[in-house]
Amino acid sequence: MRVLAMLDGTLADADGPLIRADDLGLLRGDGVFETVLVVDGRPRELGPHLDRLTRSAAMLDLPPPDRAAWERVTQVVIDAWDAPGEMALKLVYTRGPEFGDGLPTAYALGLPIGAKTLENRVGGVTAVSLDRGFDPAIVERAPWLLLGAKTLSYAVNMAAMRYAASHGADEAIFVASDGSVLEGPTSTVVVVSGREMRTTPPSSGVLAGTTQGALFRAAERAGWTTKVEPVQRDDLDSADGVFLASSVRKITRVRVLDGVAMPECEPLHRELSALYEAEYAT
Ligand SMILES: Cc1ncc(COP(=O)(O)O)c(C=O)c1O
Repeated sequence: MRVLAMLDGTLADADGPLIRADDLGLLRGDGVFETVLVVDGRPRELGPHLDRLTRSAAMLDLPPPDRAAWERVTQVVIDAWDAPGEMALKLVYTRGPEFGDGLPTAYALGLPIGAKTLENRVGGVTAVSLDRGFDPAIVERAPWLLLGAKTLSYAVNMAAMRYAASHGADEAIFVASDGSVLEGPTSTVVVVSGREMRTTPPSSGVLAGTTQGALFRAAERAGWTTKVEPVQRDDLDSADGVFLASSVRKITRVRVLDGVAMPECEPLHRELSALYEAEYAT
């Protein structure tokens, strides 16, 4: 099932035409988006998702998103969704048509979660590390690269996923040219050693993950140490567990990295998943 609604709350035909041929989101990937997980009719981390949408829009000089309208349209899609299971809710905000009235294109689209994603949540994934071709120091020097903004320009991210697949892996982990770990093409990397969790800081040019944020919040309350600091590629080899976190993946464990089996960490995965799920257990 799919549900589509425009930002003003009007439901639209999810199978019908929507985007103008000259929309800059389509022509140039000039826009931003979010993917929110909805479970049992409740959106997870909607506040942090809208915060990030606002930050991303500001980095692209798009008009500030109307937060109340995005909250309303989220509910419109949730109310119209009557399929069992979870929903991935895309919030899409583009610069609009090239020769239009200057207003952004804005809509929300509810989609099911792919079968492979659901499978990987349980069984874990194989991953390869791939050079992302930049040094984290570039983030400050070159704001036009939009590192840290969740833009619609995901062709490189999708190419990395296809490259990983063509080399027999389910996932990719981007590494910077200084040897530090960045993120997955659509996920945050979380590294666990003992009772400590670490992830790469947004200042290195990665997205601030809402799922990782929720996990770290829960973990801190449960007595874990959490650190947001640079992680080296070599640190992954000596970790007790490496996990990919994202709204649709939840917390997925990496079983094999660059062809080498990681330590068996199913109990650790269960513990992290329980911490994350407990955030939404009321
Ligand atoms: C590049 C990138 N990093 C990290 C994430 C994880 O973010 P979140 O946990 O908010 O879904 C995503 C999500 O799609 C992403 O595209």
